[in-house]
Parts: sequence; structure tokens; C-alpha cells
Amino acid sequence: MPSSSGRTPIASPPPSTSISPAAGQSAAVDICCGAGRGAVVIALARPDADVHAVDINDAALRLTAVNAALAGATRVRQRRSDLLSTLDGGFDLIVGNPPYLLDRGKRVYRHGGGGLGECLAKLSPTWPAIVLAPGGALLLYTGSAVVDGVHRFRAAVMPKLQEDRLEAIEVELDPDVFGEELLEPAYAEADRIAAVLVTARRP
Ligand SMILES: C[S@@+](CC[C@H](N)C(=O)[O-])C[C@H]1O[C@@H](n2cnc3c(N)ncnc32)[C@H](O)[C@@H]1O
Repeated sequence: MPSSSGRTPIASPPPSTSISPAAGQSAAVDICCGAGRGAVVIALARPDADVHAVDINDAALRLTAVNAALAGATRVRQRRSDLLSTLDGGFDLIVGNPPYLLDRGKRVYRHGGGGLGECLAKLSPTWPAIVLAPGGALLLYTGSAVVDGVHRFRAAVMPKLQEDRLEAIEVELDPDVFGEELLEPAYAEADRIAAVLVTARRP
């Protein structure tokens, strides 16, 4: 219902419950959706699909609702979730842009945790395999600190995806992002931070 200002209020997201796609329905999820651009792009490209947008931050979910409404992406549904933890199986597409920096203030939109920010992007190794439908794909855009030439994220995550029999590849999109972070003491050992894209498919 419109408020006295004439604007339609944006409701708070519902609490976490498990999310499963309806049988026979194409479904996608944008994890760490932030302001929801991944979910909105998918919903506009595939108006027949159920599109879920999940984030741990309610303010981000409200922004997603606003952006979906403005874009006319009526099938985007936003829900609070810690990464993939509330998702049941059956998703055809998972996209995500988890935070990957080691933020001194631990701000939720950018703090990845772990040794060098890679903790969130590691996900739980078994989740993508469980949550993806056969033939489904995971697209993860994230960052990887490189120490002595070794990609921390690649070393941590790729063997696990492969163990789970996902066909996974990782490419470096940009060799050097957030270069100023390297001045932080926490990054003293790091050569650089690379932006990477992981693509995995469940056969
Ligand atoms: C880099 S931003 C994503 C921005 C988004 N791609 C966009 O276009 O607006 C990272 C997001 O991850 C969310 N986040 C952080 N920790 C999370 C967690 N454990 N589970 C789900 N989302 C999380 C943050 O709230 C933030 O919205």
C-alpha cells in the first residue's frame, strides 16, 4: 500500500527458510546479491524463471527489491541467507560476487574473512554440488590474493569443486585490483590481488 509520501514502502525481507525451486521450473539464485544487479539481469533475460536474490544484509535485500521493481523484474524474490545455506537443490544457475578483501573494520559488504579475504568465496565446498541441478552452472566472480605466485583462492577452492565432480575452470579477469589494500599490514606477504571468475558445471 502506498505510504503518505505516495511511495510504495519496501517490506523487510522474510526470515531465512529453505528455498527450493518449484518442480519443472527454471530457477536461478544470486548469492551475496548486494543491490541485486545479477538477479535483475537474469530475471530480465529469462522472464519465465524463478530468480532468488540472497544476502546476509537486510539493507542490501531492500535495495534489491527497489532495483527489481524499477527494472520491472517481477520474478525476483529476495531472502536473507548466509551464502547457500538456506538453498535446497535444483538450481539451474548460481551467480555470486562474495566479498573477498580483508577489511580492517570487518564491514560486511567487503570483508571476506579467512587468511587473506578468501574465506567467504570458498563457500562450503559441498554446497554448489548439492544446490545445482544436473546441467546447472555456477558463476562466481571474486578476488584472489596472490602470494609467492600462488592464487590463494584457486588453491583452496578448485580441487574441492573437482572432487565434487563439477567441471570447473577459473580465469583471471584482472591481475591487479584494489592495489591500495596491499599497503595494509595484513597484505604484507601478498604480491597482488587478482579478480577471478570461476565457472563450474554439474554434469
Ligand atoms: C561485493 S558485494 C556484492 C555486490 C553485488 N554484486 C552488486 O552488484 O550490488 C558483497 C555482498 O555480499 C554480502 N555478504 C557478505 N557476507 C555474506 C554471507 N555470509 N552470506 C550472504 N551474503 C553475504 C554483503 O552483504 C554484500 O551485499
